[in-house]
Amino acid sequence: MAMAAAPEGSSAGNTLGWRDRAVLWRDRLLTSETFQRLATAFPPTRPIVRRRVRSLFDLCAGFVYSQVLYACVKLRLFEEVAAAPATVDELAQRFDMPADGMRRLVDAAISLDLLERRSGSRIGLGALGAAMVNNAGIKAMVEHHALLYADLADPLALLRGTSQSRQLQDYWGYAAAGQPDGLAEDAVASYSALMAASQAFIASEVIAAYPFARHRRLLDVGGGEGAFLQAVALAAPRLQLGLFDLPAVAERARARLKEAGVDAEVNGGDFFRDGLPAGADLVSLVRVLHDHDDDDVLTLLRAIRASIAEDGVLLIAEPMAETRGAEPIGAAYFGFYLCAMGSGRARSPSELGELLVAAGFDEGRMWRTRTPLLVRILVARPAASRLDGM
Ligand SMILES: C[S@@+](CC[C@H](N)C(=O)[O-])C[C@H]1O[C@@H](n2cnc3c(N)ncnc32)[C@H](O)[C@@H]1O
Repeated sequence: MAMAAAPEGSSAGNTLGWRDRAVLWRDRLLTSETFQRLATAFPPTRPIVRRRVRSLFDLCAGFVYSQVLYACVKLRLFEEVAAAPATVDELAQRFDMPADGMRRLVDAAISLDLLERRSGSRIGLGALGAAMVNNAGIKAMVEHHALLYADLADPLALLRGTSQSRQLQDYWGYAAAGQPDGLAEDAVASYSALMAASQAFIASEVIAAYPFARHRRLLDVGGGEGAFLQAVALAAPRLQLGLFDLPAVAERARARLKEAGVDAEVNGGDFFRDGLPAGADLVSLVRVLHDHDDDDVLTLLRAIRASIAEDGVLLIAEPMAETRGAEPIGAAYFGFYLCAMGSGRARSPSELGELLVAAGFDEGRMWRTRTPLLVRILVARPAASRLDGM
């Protein structure tokens, strides 16, 4: 009787190619205690061993480092020492903390480049702490990570979908809401404020990368409370502006844009069910698609395809998966963050391209940003052919 062929990727020994066998041999070597002892003792391999030990230790300890940062942000410690470096005792007094606890926090923060020792036993800003002082967005992000931290306490329950902790899901009210357009102001206020606080950096990256002024009319879909439009209005003052978001968020955008003196047409609704305003020759989706599952993304892209001008372009700006040098940000950080939030995933440019094509666009072209780790840009045009599935 003929044997059925083993499926591709099967671990059956006789189907392994030389490459797989070589890697298995390497795995056995690397896991062998004798080899590890020899590699540590042998001067040429010692630096490699040390680097790997350090990487592994950082992985084990990463959650502690995050909590050190969280403690500094909660106390507003960076702002305090930015104003004037101070001794540990002075800081302990100011923050009403035992000197011992303050010393522990300061020592930890110094080791992580958040703080730095100065003359006269005073403590000042370290390079990373200095980068945080005037960045309200990072500080707000760090503070809201308390929710994710709670959701991650049992990562296996999270992955199995059996976790009882739903802090992030409650925070992003639209993620699990059957009718997100019914969300009230208090359900959208925190996340909208967080998005606005963290928008400055994203907007400056996107505006530096893409020539907005070449367009007539921009519609920012899922535009939050308008912080992105506010920045675009400064860079391209002649561009007509429009924003679409959930009704309660749109209300916040109206107030914010009015106060900033930015003229924009703001519409509230559910972008999965309600039609989008027609006629924009530039539609932007800034940090929107990664929040949603593929079916919903397709629905949204089709709604945009139906409303965009035929000579228009769709600009997608968000952190993407498989970004060289930032792989853990897409796969680990966003992978787990969005799992806790209850929907969405970070997608690679080619995965986004497939969804774009299915919605009636071309597969898009990447535009270079200065910090791809935080945001990348994919720009697509309506495909000339008939729309797929419409
Ligand atoms: C992650 S925030 C990004 C906000 C903004 N683009 C930014 O980058 O700061 C996603 C936005 O999409 C909006 N949104 C989510 N689901 C929506 C829906 N079904 N209809 C309309 N807007 C929605 C949210 O209210 C939120 O403002």
